[in-house]
Amino acid sequence: MNQNRTLNGGGNLQGIVKVPGDKSISHRALILGSIAKGETYIDGFLYSEDPLSTADCLRKLGVKIPEISKNKPFRINGIGLNSFAEPTQILECGNSGTTMRLLMGLLAPSEGRNFILTGDESLSERPMNRVCKPLRMMGGKLFGRENGNKAPITIVGEKLKGCVIGTPVASAQVKSAILLAGLNAHGSTSVIEPASSRDHTERMLKAFGADLHIRGEFGRNIVINPGRDLIGQKILIPGDISSASFWMIAASIIPNSRVTIQNVGLNPSRKGILDVMDQMGCNYEIKGEKVIAGEPIGTIEVMSSTSLKPFIIEGDILPKLIDEIPILSVAACFCEGTSEIKDAQELRVKETDRLKVMTRQLRKFGAQIEEKEDGLIITGGSKFIAAEVDSETDHRVAMSLAIAALLAKGTSKIFRSEVSNVSYPSFWDDLERLLNLN
Ligand code: S3P
Repeated sequence: MNQNRTLNGGGNLQGIVKVPGDKSISHRALILGSIAKGETYIDGFLYSEDPLSTADCLRKLGVKIPEISKNKPFRINGIGLNSFAEPTQILECGNSGTTMRLLMGLLAPSEGRNFILTGDESLSERPMNRVCKPLRMMGGKLFGRENGNKAPITIVGEKLKGCVIGTPVASAQVKSAILLAGLNAHGSTSVIEPASSRDHTERMLKAFGADLHIRGEFGRNIVINPGRDLIGQKILIPGDISSASFWMIAASIIPNSRVTIQNVGLNPSRKGILDVMDQMGCNYEIKGEKVIAGEPIGTIEVMSSTSLKPFIIEGDILPKLIDEIPILSVAACFCEGTSEIKDAQELRVKETDRLKVMTRQLRKFGAQIEEKEDGLIITGGSKFIAAEVDSETDHRVAMSLAIAALLAKGTSKIFRSEVSNVSYPSFWDDLERLLNLN
């Protein structure tokens, strides 16, 4: 059911927040735990719609995943490589691109078994040929609407052969699908990316004992050799920097705020937002940095700044902050000058066309924002006035608009706010707790 929320502008944020588990790592923990031998223990799992879609699909494929509860570690008994059962039901991926794309790579080499994957309205419009094409080069048989580009996707499991594949977009979902297929292919598989995307799959595959090598300039070439069993592991999932980013930006731009954000994953392939906060001159400090289960984490303390500089985002940094563009576009509205986001075409094929949607919605508050083919131009300094805005069913848009509403004079309404359940179900509770109305 649609939930509309009202938010009053004029307060500030104070306090401590512990962000929920990383979404990307939660998907991968379930997947690798399922195909490993022995037990995998998972702590810090993100109990939200997207990773729960992955869990449901894996259950339909014959993996015994226990019922998952919020904030409770659990164990999976892996079934080993190439052991999925042909499901009697369609695999429902919901809103989750990561579920669909990673499962495509995982299932393509299941010789003699067929699978159908589908998703919600948004996912059914997202491009799948970016995964189908490389998998077909390996001998995969994948079909879908619009020439194999759109869900529902049918996979006819086939023997695959290892290949050298250059991906045209820096996408961790595409890279991961190829690597997962490579685990069950004949011969080695090599992926070369145009820029480095998040590397959680590589880190976790290595931890599970896969024969994986990282080569080339900036590690943009990943090679996987099949033939080794994966062995169940203990996985402690750090908090999601993409969820933390709402508080990192909110505390920077809302006057008189001070927020301590605990449990933030600081993987170098994910922390591009900190470089942008440095460009803006944000007032933050990282404390207690440590490595847990191969992933760096820390606590970030953020204090509001009286004046923030505009920023430019372009080139190879994009994959490192790809999910943070909606909240960074809100940040730009409160910088002194004009900020530019370039090379961000990928935003058009996310849960919504985020360039179009953020432009449309932020303008309702009075933002000076211009949509370009590959990005946004945003001039800060306009005074936000309360508005009725809509998430357009995109979780990151809903949460970004909530932060924007806190800076608008008057009472704003956010339609379809419940979509935050895709990645951050406790977002509204955390907001209520941190918000201090003057
Ligand atoms: C993800 C990769 C990114 C990101 C998405 C999660 C992943 O997508 O936007 O939210 O877990 O691999 P792309 O790989 O399409 O860039």
